[in-house]
Amino acid sequence: MTRGLRNLVISALACVVLTVSASDARHTDAQARRSGATYMSRSLQAMQSDPAINPAMLWVKQGEELWRASAQAGDQASSSCSACHGDASLSMQGVATRYPAFDEGLQHPVNLAQRVNQCRIKHQKREPWRLEGTELLAVESYVAFQSRGMPVKPVQDDRLKSFVQRGAQRYGQRLGQINLSCAQCHDERAGLRLGGNLIPQAHPTGYPLYRLEWQSVGSLQRRIRNCMTGVRAQPFPLGATELLELELFLADRSAGMPLEAPGVRP
Ligand code: HEC
Ligand code: HEC
Repeated sequence: MTRGLRNLVISALACVVLTVSASDARHTDAQARRSGATYMSRSLQAMQSDPAINPAMLWVKQGEELWRASAQAGDQASSSCSACHGDASLSMQGVATRYPAFDEGLQHPVNLAQRVNQCRIKHQKREPWRLEGTELLAVESYVAFQSRGMPVKPVQDDRLKSFVQRGAQRYGQRLGQINLSCAQCHDERAGLRLGGNLIPQAHPTGYPLYRLEWQSVGSLQRRIRNCMTGVRAQPFPLGATELLELELFLADRSAGMPLEAPGVRP
């Protein structure tokens, strides 16, 4: 076989393997897909759905204050999020359903938190908020809340394709000393117990969410890093492209499911 032909065959094979593993990993039957919330007790489900008792609403409220606050003390009101975007219940409605998305300025995909930080840097001329810090989680929760109940709608953008594919590949790769892949738990063993915990299907529809174990709101990246630590793998750092690729794949896999942010989990 010539070198060119061999390369062609290898890449064709790689393509087949990729599509097979991606479609295996995906719960294609919409009926079979379940949010992690559906595995929870009734009282936790009620806590998630009722804003009056959902602890994450404290973050949403703080996010709303930050939305209106000007970025610099004593500064003209023009530097606030609301000065440019107005009423979030209108301007931010549906925005969270299509993140992660491709950012023109960075020429790279960003998740919703990273997108908010782009406005901090570009439009407010401020330091970005710390990833996983209270301010960023609060504003992200506030923005995500404006899409509650709306279906996940990943953007069809050719520039995202290779990232989604790498995420799918990563999802199928064994990790850590325990040597299990995301798929081996979340596709093959979803609904079973691991120690005391039920294994959910890993849909990202509730994030950011309040986790009782954290006693706090946390991001999807924090959740994925927890799973990596769980299999004794070195977790990718917050903000890493590898995590973003997994987020993109998970969003693709949950397309059409309703957003529940901010969610609640045990
Ligand atoms: C050993 C099994 C296991 C592996 C491997 C694993 N997870 Fe998890 N994952 C869990 C369990 C169990 C939970 C439920 C949380 C809990 O109660 O600890 C969870 C929760 C999640 C959730 C939250 C879902 C929700 O409804 O809030 C996401 C997202 C997730 N995992 C993604 C991943 C990704 C991505 C990988 C691969 C990098 C991965 N997980 C690897 C066991 C695993
Ligand atoms: C000076 C005006 C300005 C300010 C202040 C500003 N933004 Fe933006 N924002 C924009 C513009 C313009 C865009 C469109 C993309 C771009 O050019 O950056 C945008 C885009 C966004 C998006 C993505 C919307 C989408 O449809 O994908 C989000 C989310 C967002 N901003 C949130 C915020 C938040 C939160 C704040 C406050 C922390 C903020 N913005 C402050 C001007 C602003």
